[in-house]
Amino acid sequence: LPTEHLQIIEAHELLAKFYNHLLVNTNEGAQALEYLFKRGFTKESIQKFQVGYSLPEWDFSMKFLEKRGFSHDLMEKAGLLGVREKDGTYFDRFRNRLMFPLKDSKGKIIAFSARALTKDDQPKYLNTPETVLFNKSSLLYNFYEARSQIRKQGFALLFEGFADVISADSAGVKNGVAVMGTALTENHVKQLKRLADSVMLCFDSDAAGEGAAYRAGMLLVSHGISVSAAILPEGLDPDDYIRNYGSEKFRADVIGNPLTWTAFQLLHYRRGKNLRNEGEKLEYIEKAMITISELENAVERDLYIRQLSEEFSLSLDALLEQQQQVNITRKNNQPPLLKHQDIQPTAPKPA
Ligand code: GTP
Ligand code: MN
Ligand code: MN
Ligand code: MN
Ligand code: MN
Repeated sequence: LPTEHLQIIEAHELLAKFYNHLLVNTNEGAQALEYLFKRGFTKESIQKFQVGYSLPEWDFSMKFLEKRGFSHDLMEKAGLLGVREKDGTYFDRFRNRLMFPLKDSKGKIIAFSARALTKDDQPKYLNTPETVLFNKSSLLYNFYEARSQIRKQGFALLFEGFADVISADSAGVKNGVAVMGTALTENHVKQLKRLADSVMLCFDSDAAGEGAAYRAGMLLVSHGISVSAAILPEGLDPDDYIRNYGSEKFRADVIGNPLTWTAFQLLHYRRGKNLRNEGEKLEYIEKAMITISELENAVERDLYIRQLSEEFSLSLDALLEQQQQVNITRKNNQPPLLKHQDIQPTAPKPA
């Protein structure tokens, strides 16, 4: 590594230790520590993830690093300082925040994500900007620590937020990683694929989380990774769930009982649809049939088609005919152009 990179890492390692000390051992950090305990963080998780606290001062970290021989120029390149437009002077980027060190794939600290302590302080999370070492759309939180467990268990658990990774880890689930507030990228997928051919999604249970999980799953599947999705009660994220229901229930009912990728897709298509409305119901069935028809496994196809048939009191014949049409459309490589009339809920089509 070039000297500059090593210096950036060294600055982060020193600061992370210092922030952790401020959080754990000083009066200045007492409120932040209290906040973490209230959220269910344990002493062990705080130490394992090297959580810290940055002081409200505008130049405390800058002076701390100055004393240890780091130049302002380097600190700025590291993303630790901002520059005032009016006079070009520097200031600490991270102030009065919880500090979560971010590590590269070799376990070296290269950035921070800093959480506000109150709702008034925006943004909720402030990250290191892009630097020579930190690219937020390729970093997976906890990747370095989780890799051996991902290999061993044969799958990675993908969370939406890194707070969920920490909570899950405390709950005994050690193969979790998270993206840093971005969509899942090809780069993320490549890293995961080196360790396992299976990913379980465990995203926040709200419209945004479900949409993000759907997009992440689509990308993973397109790279030959098998996907499942753990489901939480509406409105909760994994961290909330563990706090409310406990570790054991999380492991048994959530991680232990995921939906198949197909079942998750069907669930996603239903969101926001009123299935008592004929038109919306038919739209759903049509989408569901396209997904089901794409399944390679005949038994799986049969399973989901039977479920649809039962749920909506449709004849199996009509659904199988629909499936054939979907297949023909796909073979002809045309976009699906199915009309609602193509599905006859009761009588089969006249020949
Ligand atoms: P808590 O409120 O602390 O429990 O956060 P969370 O882990 O539930 O995060 P949330 O579901 O709100 O967001 C998921 C992820 O998106 C976070 O882990 C962050 O990486 C990212 N994120 C959320 N809010 C912000 C923000 O204000 N700025 C940036 N840059 N990223 C954010
Ligand atoms: Mn690709
Ligand atoms: Mn969310
Ligand atoms: Mn969340
Ligand atoms: Mn949360």
